[in-house]
Amino acid sequence: KPVYILNGPNLNLLGQRQPEVYGRETLADVEAACGRLAGELGLEARFRQSNHEGVLIDWIHEARGEASGIVINPGAFTHTSVAILDALNAFDGPVLEVHISNVHKRESFRHHSYVSLRAEGVIAGFGTEGYLLALRRMATLTGGK
Ligand code: DQA
Repeated sequence: KPVYILNGPNLNLLGQRQPEVYGRETLADVEAACGRLAGELGLEARFRQSNHEGVLIDWIHEARGEASGIVINPGAFTHTSVAILDALNAFDGPVLEVHISNVHKRESFRHHSYVSLRAEGVIAGFGTEGYLLALRRMATLTGGK
């Protein structure tokens, strides 16, 4: 079963948007790096991005029975979306939350995460490397299934 790697709003602009905060790598670069590492780990990665809350929720529903685990960077929905939390609570496997920036060093409205109420682990402030660290952890949590 694949690991779903889901990305929320504005992450399609990665590399162009506030590079001083999020770096110069694009989301396509991150997807390629995740694909390479997944191969090494014996995992399959399904990497997606949407600016729409409902689309992300549909993908989380699809993950039920379809995905071994979910790595999610919910973008700003992290701080607002009870609906994404509810969807993740309907998923059985491990959930890991990734933030490229260190949200705790930023505005106080970024300090609270609804998704953290569900996530087994959270990575913040490791840049795009956070996705790779989360994938490694996912390999451990799913036994490479
Ligand atoms: C983010 C942090 C969020 O606060 C922000 O809204 C984002 C990206 C991160 O990866 O650092 O869009 O999730």
